[in-house]
Amino acid sequence: MRILVTGGAGFIGSNFVSYTLKKHPDDRIIVLDALTYAGNLENFDKEIWNNPNFQFFHGNITDEKLVKELMRNVDAVVHFAAETHVDRSIREAGTFLETDIWGTYILLDSARLAGIERFVHISTDEVYGEAEDHASVEGDDLKPKSPYAASKTGADRLAWSYWTTYELPVTISRCSNNYGPFQYPEKLIPLFVTNAMEDKPLPVYGHGKNTRDWIYVLDHCSAIDALMRSDGDKVNGEVFNVSSEHELSVLDITGIILKALGKPESLINHVEDRPGHVIRHAVDPSKINKVLGWKPEYGFVENIEKTIDWYRNNETWWRNLKEKQAEYKEWIKAQYGKG
Ligand code: NAD
Ligand code: DAU
Repeated sequence: MRILVTGGAGFIGSNFVSYTLKKHPDDRIIVLDALTYAGNLENFDKEIWNNPNFQFFHGNITDEKLVKELMRNVDAVVHFAAETHVDRSIREAGTFLETDIWGTYILLDSARLAGIERFVHISTDEVYGEAEDHASVEGDDLKPKSPYAASKTGADRLAWSYWTTYELPVTISRCSNNYGPFQYPEKLIPLFVTNAMEDKPLPVYGHGKNTRDWIYVLDHCSAIDALMRSDGDKVNGEVFNVSSEHELSVLDITGIILKALGKPESLINHVEDRPGHVIRHAVDPSKINKVLGWKPEYGFVENIEKTIDWYRNNETWWRNLKEKQAEYKEWIKAQYGKG
């Protein structure tokens, strides 16, 4: 299979590239990534760079000419590229609309014209909004609460319309919160782990009782792999939730991190809440389990520890971002009021 992976230099994308090259050594992977602040060539190790089946293109998914050219040489697309941070979308929504909706349109339309055989659109559980009295199921209403979530909802429904209108074989995944190596240190877990290592405060929004449904990134990768390689009859035009059903609050996660690193609770700093902060995200993965037999492989306890260890053992990776990347410093100052 020749696969175009958009956003492959980001957190989940780079994990997916390395997962796929190991699991399917004969596949060819072409990554298209704009290398925004969140894209990082250091997310690919030497083995990946030396792999003749790996190719990297620095470019934007809104560049129609480039996208059309790349589509000519692939069978399938896995579309990760997006602006992904909720807090950034609250400060500035324009780039989210541009990349997450317009960029998705360019990809879908180019895929349609090229006759692509499988288009896996990486959506998110954020599209549901609050999971009030039950874990969200695929048929639930979509009530996104942030500009990020609304942009992803637009993209999710646009992707589906390319199936209903043009029969482009689109499959949509809606996964819960991922954790693991190579996550940009603006998101909860890598921010708090690295701050704690530096004895800096951990900025908990509001009361910290908001919950998320946590999944190890390689479980998300195996679910995407299953969606990519299943019979079209089972997956074309379908939406699949992905989760390992492990709900924890921000304070739970914070406690786990502090304990693992042997740091004091006095590092916890309750700060102003996120506007429109979703109280609970939780998704029900029964459908992907029933239809494809997929289930998560990784338990939370061992893998959160493994993840914390990864940040402990890869200080150069995150220090290059936290200490040397101008966008990172600007972001921390704008969001948390400190340099
Ligand atoms: P990330 O922010 O770590 O990476 C995004 C990547 O996309 C970066 O490499 C960036 O350079 C690239 N990119 C951004 N704009 C681009 C553009 N215009 N053209 C080309 N490349 C561009 O994100 P992530 O956490 O790895 O998320 C990947 C995908 O998974 C996103 O679509 C996100 O909505 C979805 N998702 C994420 C999670 C999560 O918990 N992180 C959960 C569910 C779904
Ligand atoms: O649910 C899937 C989504 O998960 C993905 O679609 C998004 O791309 C991804 O960023 C993530 O969104 P969240 O908003 O849930 O992730 P984040 O790590 O930003 O926040 C997790 C929780 O931690 C949330 O309740 C807000 C809280 N938080 C976050 C930060 C960055 C804090 O309390 N303080 C912080 O500084």
